[in-house]
Amino acid sequence: MNKLRHFLQFNDLSRDDIDYLFARTRIIKDRFKRYVRHMPLLDRTLVMIFEKASTRTRLSFEAGMHQLGGAAIYLNTRDTQLGRGEPVEDAAQVISRMCDLVMIRTFEQTIVERFASNSRVPVINGLTNEYHPCQILADIFTFIEHRGSIRGKTVAWIGDSNNVCNTWLQAAEVLDFQVRVSTPPGYEVEPERAGLHSQGHFEQFVDPMQAAKGADLVTTDVWTSMGFEAENEARAKAFADWMVDEDMMRQANPKALFMHCLPAHRGEEVSAGVIDGPQSVVWDEAENRLHAQKALMEFLLLGRLKD
Ligand code: CP
Ligand code: NVA
Repeated sequence: MNKLRHFLQFNDLSRDDIDYLFARTRIIKDRFKRYVRHMPLLDRTLVMIFEKASTRTRLSFEAGMHQLGGAAIYLNTRDTQLGRGEPVEDAAQVISRMCDLVMIRTFEQTIVERFASNSRVPVINGLTNEYHPCQILADIFTFIEHRGSIRGKTVAWIGDSNNVCNTWLQAAEVLDFQVRVSTPPGYEVEPERAGLHSQGHFEQFVDPMQAAKGADLVTTDVWTSMGFEAENEARAKAFADWMVDEDMMRQANPKALFMHCLPAHRGEEVSAGVIDGPQSVVWDEAENRLHAQKALMEFLLLGRLKD
């Protein structure tokens, strides 16, 4: 039987695992584009638990599991007992006896960790306050498609040091590239919360223009993440100078890509000219969530396949 593995943080997988996943994603994407059936997960069931809103994550996991031959069930906090205080540990025991795989989008990282500790089946983090590992899997696959290996490259993160930023930082340690982060004062990266083991792969900058200088990829995200809405007004003021616009993109490598996990706010963290411009690969990123997560689900359930 395949060893029980979870994907709760990016660094739960080794560089070798990630390289395998990228190679597998390419095969799965190619089959999808050619309408070739790829159904290694016939009769398997994925349960998706959402405590926060989602478009891309729900759709990519649900469509992905269906395409792999299995079924996906959507649960949310509002109409399950989780919203009425059933302990996460009890929910994990019950849910994992009735399905083969679980994906959770929730608040604190400790919630997915408690769930996984009590689960009989693999658990995937579909976004927590701290991390968004599936997003970065798709984003780096997208970078490779456009520019080749990310090893030794430089990524500029402009804006909030949030779940997506933390995951870029973890990925830089696993895959050996650099991340230059610029946040407003008071919103800096917290290395421990980001789950970092070294300081070697990232640098913090006060000036976002300096962070963007020479970067191979410039990326950002909303100023206020889900769960932090009470800080909206204060953040809008603090982040006003941290918009990725055409001037900032001119600081980067002329061949730099622009990424955003979406949903985006044009005129806040990114100008319309950049997100809708020629360097932006945001639609590829969104599409690649589907292909990368299909490879991930197959890997967690069946291990490495050769066919
Ligand atoms: N990028 C992302 O995770 O999008 P959703 O919130 O729509 O799932
Ligand atoms: N940082 C954002 C990402 C949304 C996909 C949030 O957590 O709301």
